[in-house]
Amino acid sequence: MAIPVILDCDPGHDDAFALVLAAAHPAVRLLGITTVAGNQTVEKTTLNARRICTAAGIRGVPVAAGLSRPLHGAGIVAPDIHGESGLDGPGFGEPTVPVDERDAVTFLRDTLLAHPEPVTLVPTGPLSNIATLLLAHPELYGRIERIVLMGGSTGRGNRTPAAEFNILADPEAADIVFSSGLPVTMIGLNVSHRAVATPDVVARVAALGTPLARLCTELLTSYGTAYREVFGFPAPPLHDPLTVAHLIDPALVTLVHAPVAVELTGTHTRGATVVDLDGVTGAPPNAHVGVDVDVPAYWDLVVDAVRTLG
Ligand code: BDR
Ligand code: CA
Repeated sequence: MAIPVILDCDPGHDDAFALVLAAAHPAVRLLGITTVAGNQTVEKTTLNARRICTAAGIRGVPVAAGLSRPLHGAGIVAPDIHGESGLDGPGFGEPTVPVDERDAVTFLRDTLLAHPEPVTLVPTGPLSNIATLLLAHPELYGRIERIVLMGGSTGRGNRTPAAEFNILADPEAADIVFSSGLPVTMIGLNVSHRAVATPDVVARVAALGTPLARLCTELLTSYGTAYREVFGFPAPPLHDPLTVAHLIDPALVTLVHAPVAVELTGTHTRGATVVDLDGVTGAPPNAHVGVDVDVPAYWDLVVDAVRTLG
């Protein structure tokens, strides 16, 4: 039976592919898309979610706009990687997919209550919406099957030497999620930096020849240019769809059960995920943490998803 999922995202080039994979694969039933400020403002990430749904023919999946800022302090955005639009590269027409009238947290509440089975939450942006839901509605914990998130790292960060973008963008929210006692799976940079969209991957997408494939090729090309200029990477890591790929094929990402703490106060390390892989703290494990990925199997899923929706 298909896994009921809500994707909580900040599109974002790699979020766009997470969306396509979640909508395309029969192992997932996409109940809704919630957006959050992250790669760009929430107005832009919401517009981008609607743009991708329109371009990929994803109809009947509600898109609800979420928080415009983190729980504390000022937000950060990532125009250096994702551009001023949050999805620079392709041209988009006016989206025909509407915005749900409910805000993201209300949509999440309503959907968790209405769905007959517990729902899997898949956050691929800052965790502001999810933490707000958990704080406002502790009665809904039992309605959440698990949380499978892209964020953090067992090693170094990307926005600071210590912190990954999604966690740095709202560390307090991340702390609430990791401390929630809910089943949390963390797929971080230590895994996603192995899943780089090399020229042969881009060529496989381009060879599909459909309008969606063209759009995806333009997204990968623009994203690749940014990663080369900002980080000096020869090819860009496609972080976010790893969450959905893991749901589709649990063997694709190797996980270990470990304690994860979010650094909230470090002078140079705020937003770091401190993962105790060796058990030296004696703290109880609170997350399943990705440590490896089957890269060829991952690209097969991503390319097939573009083919399916194209
Ligand atoms: C994460 O940050 C964002 O820029 C990407 O969309 C991804 O979710 C990687 O650090
Ligand atoms: Ca993202």
